[in-house]
Amino acid sequence: MSRPQQTDPYSHRRKRKHTLRRFVEFRGMSRLSLKQYRKDVKQLYDGPKGAMLAVGSMVSLHEPLLGLMLRERKFDVTRFQNILDVGSGAGQILGHLIKRANPQAQLIGCDLSHQMLKRARSRLNSQRPNYITADLTQLPFDDDSFDCITCGWVIEHLHDPRPGLRELARVLQPGGSMLLLATEDTFAGAFVSRTWKCRTYNRSELNGICEEVGLPWREQLYFTKLHRYLKMGGILVEATKPAPRSHLVSHTCQS
Ligand SMILES: C[S@@+](CC[C@H](N)C(=O)[O-])C[C@H]1O[C@@H](n2cnc3c(N)ncnc32)[C@H](O)[C@@H]1O
Repeated sequence: MSRPQQTDPYSHRRKRKHTLRRFVEFRGMSRLSLKQYRKDVKQLYDGPKGAMLAVGSMVSLHEPLLGLMLRERKFDVTRFQNILDVGSGAGQILGHLIKRANPQAQLIGCDLSHQMLKRARSRLNSQRPNYITADLTQLPFDDDSFDCITCGWVIEHLHDPRPGLRELARVLQPGGSMLLLATEDTFAGAFVSRTWKCRTYNRSELNGICEEVGLPWREQLYFTKLHRYLKMGGILVEATKPAPRSHLVSHTCQS
């Protein structure tokens, strides 16, 4: 006997929403060569839009909310000695790291746009971070150089995130942690992608990709309880590079 078919009463509405979101989302990335798109991104951030980035982060509350998250130690930066902030922009994350990280910790900010790093340097007015102009897919650092990486709203500029995430995994020490923030494939995310000529990520797809490149997620984070409840604020995760087994065993024996 055939079973009665289950129908989803909301599938039509969901499909319409999905189509509308895809219509809003920036789709130019796949039409350009990697080289041309990278050049466009650099120009975008070098120019007037990049100059407004710091103000935008304040108005959207991203910068203060991130500060709150670090202050509450949802991602505890006090435990690290060598921190790399990738895609530093106007220094939105670096500024919080200067305040919250261990005073002895080495801080490095890197960005594709030299102009953005100049803005970060003058905005933060601190001698502490070192600034390096670099593409996140080709970082000028040795393997296992950092025990912490922060990467906020940057991988949206990678058509395929794998080469970039693999590079982050390469420079992260085994046992190290990464705070990864990315625009989610929601309506709000689609508008962001149009403004900044970037893509969005599906949460479970990104989770799978991080696992694939050796940066499994340890914890999904939210700025506040309200963000958690409403599933807002984008994808915020702590990912880790697993320590080799022998390392784990020797630590367990010592404790
Ligand atoms: C939206 S801003 C994020 C700024 C800051 N991380 C924050 O949390 O607000 C993105 C930054 O990533 C940089 N960026 C984009 N593609 C990059 C790449 N392939 N390598 C390094 N930086 C990149 C841009 O120049 C820009 O400064």
